[in-house]
Amino acid sequence: MQMTVSTSHPYQILIERGCLASLGARAAELFRPGSRAMLVSDSNVFPLYGGAAEQSLSNRGFSCFSFVFPAGESEKRLSTVEKLYAALAENGFTRSDFIVALGGGVTGDMACFAAATFLRGIRFIQAPTSLLAQIDSSVGGKTGVDLPQGKNLVGAFHQPALVLIDPDTLATLPPRYFSDGMGEAIKYGCIKSRPLFDRIAGTDVREHPEEMIFQCVDIKRKVVEQDEFDTGERMLLNFGHTFGHALEKLHDFQGLSHGEAVGIGMAMMAGFGEKAGVTAPGTAAEILKALKKYNLPLRDKIQTEEILAATALDKKSEGSVIRVILLKEIGSSFLRPFTRPELAAFCGVKP
Ligand SMILES: NC(=O)c1ccc[n+]([C@@H]2O[C@H](COP(=O)([O-])OP(=O)(O)OC[C@H]3O[C@@H](n4cnc5c(N)ncnc54)[C@H](O)[C@@H]3O)[C@@H](O)[C@H]2O)c1
Repeated sequence: MQMTVSTSHPYQILIERGCLASLGARAAELFRPGSRAMLVSDSNVFPLYGGAAEQSLSNRGFSCFSFVFPAGESEKRLSTVEKLYAALAENGFTRSDFIVALGGGVTGDMACFAAATFLRGIRFIQAPTSLLAQIDSSVGGKTGVDLPQGKNLVGAFHQPALVLIDPDTLATLPPRYFSDGMGEAIKYGCIKSRPLFDRIAGTDVREHPEEMIFQCVDIKRKVVEQDEFDTGERMLLNFGHTFGHALEKLHDFQGLSHGEAVGIGMAMMAGFGEKAGVTAPGTAAEILKALKKYNLPLRDKIQTEEILAATALDKKSEGSVIRVILLKEIGSSFLRPFTRPELAAFCGVKP
């Protein structure tokens, strides 16, 4: 399955079991033989797939280098990027060379931020290996790193030259990370596609995730094409994220994973929407059922008042207004701006 993303720099996304083996052949369609390729991967993923990726690139005449960093969100920071810059510079990378990000969203965000900024921008290939990266972070060109003050505070928009999604790599993904990605998959169904939601809720997508991955990526593609720089339509992707981010923060980014927190955020917003009469009755119950099916938590012990207070630094805030994504029903979403007192009232909390 293949699709083209028509952004300022159009690129192709290939979703195919086993396609990692064709990395070199695909790269040869984009880069001159003899170009340098820097394979960036973390300490979990490189031992599993790094060798095959390097071999595939070398077979097509690329000079292959690798940069492996310790796995984990804490490495998505400027000091890791600086080490990667050094590896690129020491090995003579020029603007005709490229980076391959082989791994989850941490690898993709960090490596592609380096690609966006090294020599004012070199090209890169995304080869995502976690479910979250395959359905979300590898598509759309958002790159970046964390600061001690907050997540994703430094970054750039830089579209990939190619996204190569091999669902076979999910066979080694730890189950908790699979569930984590399912939180985002459920979100795509909620905001844009009743059929996708029904597929996720009604079948077990673990055995054959490729069709679901295709549907999720296709939704993200359309949204990104309409709003590459995240000023309108793309904000719909933040359904569940207002409360999700707040919950992650309240748990010091340790107790709850991103997908788990977003799942709880989606169910809460759907519930408040139902009470306010803007969301179809029964929507929250359907979301909760889907979350349960993929072993995602349904609620958190932290009270709504505290969660609301923690949304104060939300990226979707503009001055005193916070932009929240709500559902009309499963498959149909809209953005509603709230003042803080309005949002508190909407959630049944005294301002
Ligand atoms: N750029 C975007 O648009 C965007 C969107 C959503 C999330 N993100 C970012 O993505 C990051 C989270 O991504 P993630 O959940 O993939 O994190 P991650 O990259 O840390 O991967 C999760 C874990 O799974 C391991 N892993 C990945 N693929 C594997 C495989 N096939 N087999 C075995 N282990 C594997 C990793 O080593 C890691 O331990 C966050 O930093 C978030 O900010 C970015």
